[in-house]
Amino acid sequence: MKIKNGYSVRWTMEQYAIKGGNPLVGEVEIGGAKNAALGVLAAAIMTDDMTVIENLPDVRDINVLLQAMESIGVIVYRSERHTVRINASMISGLVIEDDYIKKIRASYYLLGALLGKYKHAEVALPGGCNIGSRKIDLHIKGFKALGAEVKIEHGLIIADAKYLKGAHIYLDTVSVGATINIMLAAVLADGKTVIENAAKEPHVVDVANFLNSLGANVKGAGTDVIRISGVKKLHGSEYSIIPDQIEAGTFMFAAAITKGDVTVKNVIPKHLESTTAKLIEMGCQVEESDDAVRVVASKRLMSTHVKTLPYPGFPTDMQPQIAVSLALGKGTSIVTESIFDNRFKYVDELAKMGSNIKVEGNTAIIEGVERFTSANLTAPDLRAGAALVLACLTAEGFSTVEDIKYIERGYEDFDVKLQKLGAQIAKVDSDKEFQKFKLKVG
Ligand code: EPZ
Repeated sequence: MKIKNGYSVRWTMEQYAIKGGNPLVGEVEIGGAKNAALGVLAAAIMTDDMTVIENLPDVRDINVLLQAMESIGVIVYRSERHTVRINASMISGLVIEDDYIKKIRASYYLLGALLGKYKHAEVALPGGCNIGSRKIDLHIKGFKALGAEVKIEHGLIIADAKYLKGAHIYLDTVSVGATINIMLAAVLADGKTVIENAAKEPHVVDVANFLNSLGANVKGAGTDVIRISGVKKLHGSEYSIIPDQIEAGTFMFAAAITKGDVTVKNVIPKHLESTTAKLIEMGCQVEESDDAVRVVASKRLMSTHVKTLPYPGFPTDMQPQIAVSLALGKGTSIVTESIFDNRFKYVDELAKMGSNIKVEGNTAIIEGVERFTSANLTAPDLRAGAALVLACLTAEGFSTVEDIKYIERGYEDFDVKLQKLGAQIAKVDSDKEFQKFKLKVG
């Protein structure tokens, strides 16, 4: 494990060992939203004053972004596990190296942030989870509209401007990344920028709120038209990241698939409405309170149809979790993925447990089976990895999920939180440890 500045970035061969069969029962606390935090951290380098970011999840994507920021001279001090102080007054370079970008996609937010602040940025083409083609044409279109010259050379995106001037930008596709990146580049530009067909995800709103707390003037975030009036300078602020709606949704499905009773705490129920609606259709009881949702599932789940859509539609980041749950449901379900073109890779893995799913293009036709059998699986990406863990939690006998480095990109202490709900799961990195786990849980 590499420990740096109090936080860790681990790339090991650990896997989850799971003995399924227990319904999950109890309470789980949800952490800060990874995808909001990525935008907020990039935005934090746009002021020379100190910013304090709270409720930061301790997950790999965040820790890698912090390292990328440190690599250009940003001072990052993790005062507590979920709090970071950032001082970007001494940035010494405007080039983000390939190593960091290969690991995560969101370091491209540094492109918008650096371009906005210094009018120049060089960032390697982004990596991230392999869930289909992940273009950046709209980000580039936005930067160009603001007056930057953008070229791609030697694997780097190079953006440069004498000055940035507000513009009217229409996004052909609803894109979270492009909306946030253009917002970052525009807050210090001269004049007014309008982003039309903007993404409305809660994390877009959170980044806009953070920028406003720094003194920016961003209006309309959360609707499909965002209006930004450029300001001269940003100042410091203290800010707390919103709860992670996808982590929350994953635990809601964990309750549903194991026929459990789980109260998911520290959430904004409004952000979970599409997930809640589907769980109710599938026969679960969902009770909402101010900052928690309780999911109770007492019988076999029912089938339903679902199509992923930009917010407030059903999130693509919850697609594997609902599909895996429907694979144990009664009857035929249809899941249509409309955001990414390769997000059904987990289906072959799930087939090892006896599921019956046929994928045709962007549609999965799911014939529910009564149970899954244990199996040794490999996580193909972050959300699919989490979904496969949920599947293993239902299967009698011992299963394993390899490549949990993907899951750790976005879930903090996933195994520990599941254990607290009664799951028999452990992180093991050798056969000896796996055998020990087997002896322990019997
Ligand atoms: C963000 O990715 C999230 N990542 C993803 O989370 C999430 O799946 C996705 O939004 C959709 O909600 C982060 O926030 C870091 P997009 P992003 O731009 O911004 C097309 C997770 O599991 N597009 O909204 O990369 C694109 O191909 C993940 O946490 C263009 O055509 O997604 C896709 O079809 C993985 N041109 C659609 O837009 C562009 O320039 C939506 O992508 C940009 C995107």
